[in-house]
Amino acid sequence: MSMATTASNRLLLALTLSIVVVGAAAAAPPAAAAPPSAFRRVYAFGDSFTDTGNTRSTTGPYSFGYVSSPPYGATFFHRSTNRYSDGRLVVDFLAEALNLPSFLPPYLSLSNASAAAADGGGGVNFAVAGSTAIEHDFFARNNLSLDITPQSIMTQLAWFDDHLRKANESSKVVGDALFWVGEIGANDYAYTVIARDTIPTKLVRTMAVQRITTFVEGLLERGAKYVMVQGLPLTGCLTLAMTLARPDDRDNVSCVASVNRQSYAHNRRLLAALHQLRRRHPDAVIAYADYYAAHLAVMRSPAAYGFTEPFRACCGSGGGDYNFDLFATCGSPAVNTACAQPARYVNWDGVHMTEAMYKVVAGMFFHAGDAYCRPAFSDLLARKAQGKP
Ligand SMILES: *[C@@H]1O[C@H](CO)[C@@H](O)[C@H](O)[C@H]1NC(C)=O
Ligand SMILES: *[C@@H]1O[C@H](CO)[C@@H](O)[C@H](O)[C@H]1NC(C)=O
Ligand SMILES: *[C@@H]1O[C@H](CO)[C@@H](O)[C@H](O)[C@H]1NC(C)=O
Ligand SMILES: *[C@@H]1O[C@H](CO)[C@@H](O)[C@H](O)[C@H]1NC(C)=O
Repeated sequence: MSMATTASNRLLLALTLSIVVVGAAAAAPPAAAAPPSAFRRVYAFGDSFTDTGNTRSTTGPYSFGYVSSPPYGATFFHRSTNRYSDGRLVVDFLAEALNLPSFLPPYLSLSNASAAAADGGGGVNFAVAGSTAIEHDFFARNNLSLDITPQSIMTQLAWFDDHLRKANESSKVVGDALFWVGEIGANDYAYTVIARDTIPTKLVRTMAVQRITTFVEGLLERGAKYVMVQGLPLTGCLTLAMTLARPDDRDNVSCVASVNRQSYAHNRRLLAALHQLRRRHPDAVIAYADYYAAHLAVMRSPAAYGFTEPFRACCGSGGGDYNFDLFATCGSPAVNTACAQPARYVNWDGVHMTEAMYKVVAGMFFHAGDAYCRPAFSDLLARKAQGKP
């Protein structure tokens, strides 16, 4: 295994967390600035970049097992909400942009009784940290299932069906909702990296994109008319990848070139698949949120977005260029405080972003025309308002 491979391998620790129950819904009402939106419901899917509390700390051997502890949540919620950040995620800024009555509660926090209320209150979040695009069985068959989250994106689709039953919702609601497919697939590459001889990157790409396509098709078959799909970010710019890669494995934004190439190729394949889906489903809007381009714009000129620290983890330990130690990560007993100014940092805990970065990315998706979202978010809203997807 090369050093670069080790780097991607370590990413698995980062985006992984076993899923457990609970997760209190952080339902502080978003600021009521925007006009009432055409969308009254959002259903969200994805991994730790989108999870609003379907996970929590684990006692497992891996790092990043302290999401339920301070200083997670310190900036905005002033307590941990089991989000992997100091505050709001992109999906929370979406709730604000749409003026929903609350942030999306995590599916696993809802009882039969509260499912309907949550549904009427703006929607539900099915994303779970560590989740994969490819089904868990594939990893198990290849002896790669140790300590990984058993939920794939298709599990989240089954959760969605269960939720509709519990909330007694009709297909009318499905056709009216916005489906937010957060970044998914980074874990698939990470989990398989120790088995590259038998599971080459190309195979992971083919399988992962095929599963995402099947998932989106599943939403469309259930009557979804408005779907937004995120691509992968620059996984090679995450602090963890930077600390573990060979120093000469770098690209023009000083990130890990080999890992970024992997994300780039994945996104290309995903875009082609979405293009096919649009042809088969001309009665639906399928937008692509270009996380890669948004992330790249920030890494090219961090200062233009208010960042002075593109690589150092705000909540980490060890100091130096990265302030990151895999064995003493954010929230662990040794690391119970964060940096003084999280808004100056892109990276929060070595893998996940600060609220400030998520806010920048959300702004690019929602307010920058079609530069980072195609068709533009405003276009999606207009089509919804006219009832013409
Ligand atoms: C998984 O592990 C078992 C037991 O060690 C072994 O027999 C099997 O061949 C392995 N499978 C793969 C795909 O490596
Ligand atoms: C919740 O609803 C499901 C299906 O609608 C049902 O099978 C289950 O028994 C219910 N649970 C409780 C605690 O009522
Ligand atoms: C479920 O919805 C249908 C139609 O909207 C309604 O007739 C039925 O009474 C509802 N059932 C429950 C248990 O609320
Ligand atoms: C700069 O690096 C990024 C990330 O690796 C890559 O996507 C992009 O194509 C590169 N740009 C140029 C001009 O090489």
